[in-house]
Amino acid sequence: MNITVCIGSSCHLKGSREIVTKLQELVRKEKLEESIELTGSFCMGQCVRGVCVTIDGTLYSLSPEQTEGFFYKEVMGRLTP
Ligand code: FES
Repeated sequence: MNITVCIGSSCHLKGSREIVTKLQELVRKEKLEESIELTGSFCMGQCVRGVCVTIDGTLYSLSPEQTEGFFYKEVMGRLTP
């Protein structure tokens, strides 16, 4: 599974770095390094929304506070259907 976080300037201002750090911690905590690849991306053209994050191409918008909930619902939800 590939998770991409936008690190364009608008998303950066909304906390994309924080989201990347949180996702890295969660991936480590759940020992999912083998299954999840985290990458950064430049502007995805959706700056008006929250920080843009995609899971295998599906777009989500997050705030740093939503990262953990997002991880358990969307990421873990996809891994363990
Ligand atoms: S900066 Fe992230 S979508 Fe534009």
